[in-house]
Amino acid sequence: MIGSAPIHWFEQVDSTSEELKRRARRGALEPVWIAARQQIAGRGRLGRNWVSPEGNLFVSLLCPLAEGVSAATRVPFATGLAVRDACISVLPETDFRLKWPNDVRVDKAKLAGILVESGQTDSTFWVIIGIGVNVQVAPDNTGQASISLVDLGAPPETSPDEVLLALRTALARRLRQAETGFDGVLRDWSMSAEGLGQMVEAGPANARQKGRFEGVSEDGGMILRLPDGQTHIIRAGDVDLIGDV
Ligand code: BTN
Repeated sequence: MIGSAPIHWFEQVDSTSEELKRRARRGALEPVWIAARQQIAGRGRLGRNWVSPEGNLFVSLLCPLAEGVSAATRVPFATGLAVRDACISVLPETDFRLKWPNDVRVDKAKLAGILVESGQTDSTFWVIIGIGVNVQVAPDNTGQASISLVDLGAPPETSPDEVLLALRTALARRLRQAETGFDGVLRDWSMSAEGLGQMVEAGPANARQKGRFEGVSEDGGMILRLPDGQTHIIRAGDVDLIGDV
C-alpha cells in the first residue's frame, strides 16, 4: 500500500507535513505522499526550522495506523532505516549512520532529518512522516555540520525524484518489517547506530544527562547507563556524543 501510494509534487508549499495535516483533519486518510521542490516554512524537530532550498528532497507520508497509536513509536526507527537504505542505493560504499532518535549522518555531519507526528481523525490514528534529505545542497540549518549526497560523491544531477522513488520502496519494506515486530527493526537500527556503547549527553535542554548509550528500549527510548550505575531512559531531546571517557 505505502509502496504504491500516490506521490503528489508541489512546486512550493509551506510544509509538506502541514499540507498532509490539513488533509488528515478533513478526513482524507488514504496513504499519500506529498513532495515539494521548495518549502517556505519547513519544520524540524524541537520547533526548529528546516531550511528547504530547491535541489533537496522534502516529502511527507500520511500513514493510518491500523494497530493504534502504540505502533507510532516504531515508525521513526523504521523510517531512519528506510532513508539509510535509499541513500545506500545512491552511494553504496558510504557509511551512513543513524543517530538517535532518527538523524541520518555521515562522518558526524547531518544528511537527513525525520519528523514523525501523530494524530487522530474520528476513530483513526495516523502518523505523518516528514523527511528531508540533503540531495544537492547542505543548508546550515541544523545547529550541527551538514552534508549532501552530492558532497559525498553522488552525480551533481542526482534528483530528489530518484531518491524519493528509492525511499518509497524502502519505507514500505521497513514499515512491513516493523509490523511483524520491533525486534528486527531494532537489531538493524542498532547495527547502523552512531555512538552505541559510547558516552553521550542527552535529553531535553533543561534535563540533560550524561551516560553510556546502551541501547534502545521497546518503546524507542534511549537507554543510558548513568555514572552511578543506574539506568535512565531518554524519551525526548537532543543527543551529543562526548566520546569514550
Ligand atoms: C529534523 O529536525 O531533523 C527533522 C527535519 C524534518 C524535515 C522534513 S522536510 C519534509 C517535512 N516537512 C517539514 O516541514 N518537515 C519535514
